[in-house]
Amino acid sequence: MRHLLDTTDLSLEEIDNMISLAMDIISDGEKYAHICDGKKLATLFFEPSTRTRLSFEAAMMELGGNVLGFSEAGSSSAAKGESVEDTVRMVSCYADIIAMRHPLEGAPRVASFKTGVPIINAGDGGHAHPTQTLTDLLTIYREKGTFDNLTIGLCGDLKFGRTVHSLIKAMSRYKNVSFVLIAPKELQVPDYIIKDVLEPSGASYVQVEDMESEMPNLDILYMTRIQRERFFSEEEYLKHKDAFILDMAKLKNAKESLTIMHPLPRVNEITTEVDDDPRAKYFVQALNGKYIRMALIITLLKWGGALK
Ligand code: CP
Repeated sequence: MRHLLDTTDLSLEEIDNMISLAMDIISDGEKYAHICDGKKLATLFFEPSTRTRLSFEAAMMELGGNVLGFSEAGSSSAAKGESVEDTVRMVSCYADIIAMRHPLEGAPRVASFKTGVPIINAGDGGHAHPTQTLTDLLTIYREKGTFDNLTIGLCGDLKFGRTVHSLIKAMSRYKNVSFVLIAPKELQVPDYIIKDVLEPSGASYVQVEDMESEMPNLDILYMTRIQRERFFSEEEYLKHKDAFILDMAKLKNAKESLTIMHPLPRVNEITTEVDDDPRAKYFVQALNGKYIRMALIITLLKWGGALK
């Protein structure tokens, strides 16, 4: 049995296979409409979510399976003090696979020690969000046809943004990828991303504070929200909240082939006028999240022997 706790749990070959499966689901969803008949997915969300939880649930339903779970800690026995380990141990008696989001970094890993079914990390604190990364990879593949030789600008809250950490871990494994890390100094990527991920990978990277000077070089611009819920004070959040706002003026010198991505939700960091630009792919990205989660559910259930 395998879990998905971090992007690096998957080899590049396994990621390729999952993307191929998602592409097949996109072209012929009917073929997969009953593959999970009789199977159950539990979504245990101790933190708010729209896309991740609902796309997981839609994914399982489109595979013929059923879903159960909770969307906030307050409606589970966590509110009475039950531990994550006990919660997951119980739920693994009721479901074949579990997708779990938790504000504490490492909580899904702890859960994985106490379960008889695959655990999927659907976001743990500021640490990782591997299924968002699979979503991002499918989007990049559909837009660019490759993961190699790309210059990716990551912009916004690179300190607390778990989607950014997971995407850097994934993309730095491909050939000749360059990263432009655009953030105020206080919100740059954590040191471990530089020391343990970027430097050992040999990928080139620059850290800058301004978006426009780098815009002409970018193949992908990945905007992110300032993560209000992870700041220690409201004052600190307010200082950074509108640090970067992408509008049409800022795209003046961007490539025609640029792909604009955002894991969503957005607050104020992309103006709605950009939504009509053909380079804006963040809503397609959200749709891709359902297809890749369908592929992930099938793959993990097969690896665990619950599906043939
Ligand atoms: N991208 C993402 O994780 O969105 P939600 O918080 O709505 O799940």
